[in-house]
Amino acid sequence: MKDFRAAYGQYAIVTGASSGIGEQFARHLGAAGVNVVLVARRKDRLEALAAELSRTHGTDNIVFALDLLADGAVDELAREVSDLDVGIVVANAGISSAGPLVNNSLATELDVLTLDAAVPLRMAHHFGGEFTRRGRGAIILVASSLEASATPFTANYAAAKAYVSSLGQALHYELKNHGVDVLVVSPGMTKTEGAQRSNGLDFQKISSTRMAPSQVVQAALHNLGKRARVIPGVTNKAADLLIKHALPRSLSVDMFGRLFSRALVDTAPRES
Ligand SMILES: NC(=O)c1ccc[n+]([C@@H]2O[C@H](COP(=O)([O-])OP(=O)(O)OC[C@H]3O[C@@H](n4cnc5c(N)ncnc54)[C@H](OP(=O)(O)O)[C@@H]3O)[C@@H](O)[C@H]2O)c1
Repeated sequence: MKDFRAAYGQYAIVTGASSGIGEQFARHLGAAGVNVVLVARRKDRLEALAAELSRTHGTDNIVFALDLLADGAVDELAREVSDLDVGIVVANAGISSAGPLVNNSLATELDVLTLDAAVPLRMAHHFGGEFTRRGRGAIILVASSLEASATPFTANYAAAKAYVSSLGQALHYELKNHGVDVLVVSPGMTKTEGAQRSNGLDFQKISSTRMAPSQVVQAALHNLGKRARVIPGVTNKAADLLIKHALPRSLSVDMFGRLFSRALVDTAPRES
């Protein structure tokens, strides 16, 4: 694997590092000798991970407990790391919503849109600018295989991930001649706490196949600097090709609608 520290800089920021895919990004980058700035709300988990990575790899890790939904959170993060040689940014923190859109509170849907789309935009804008000025850096945006189609019963989440994927692939082109590598990683179902949380859809009713989060991260880090987008896993890649290139959009929407309606767990309207 590439020498990330030499190629990009001494530190990586990983948002959502307290569990799942983000935790694995921190672990893999730490194992590669990169110092990690660990960002999420659960400070105890971040502190335990920072201590473990320092002990195992001798890296200097920084814990920044932050609610990325708070006003000015990305500006605060940018100020916190302004003196560090940050070379890699992984915008991974995300939440999902599912079930019939009109049954969910608008506040929840707006939080999904903010954390999954506006926060990655803010991070890409700030750090993309910094990296361009110094002529090196890497930005990884975590999207989802659901970006492939409009997706009933997880409509807002899939739309937010489609936005992130489009943003990242366009930025890959804009920044590649400035020494900045941008990669979108679009995982399929992955074994994490986030995927287990029941939030309107029970995915076990559709498929019990889950990828390990470390496989997602390996695929991402392996492809960083080589391409604009990676879909971890052969089956997920094949599904993406089929949905995007072989099916008319109306059919893919219909297919997801039928599939996900089988997994609905709660169709009662919720308080807004
Ligand atoms: N698992 C899957 O099947 C799957 C598939 C496709 C894409 N993804 C994407 O992969 C990314 C990681 O998801 P995951 O499955 O690893 O989920 P996860 O285990 O629930 O991890 C989500 C991370 O985001 C952090 N987070 C949530 N809200 C936050 C907030 N307001 N401020 C700061 N941090 C916040 C959480 O930390 P705290 O709670 O400590 O703040 C946690 O570290 C997400 O963008 C998700 O959409 C996941």
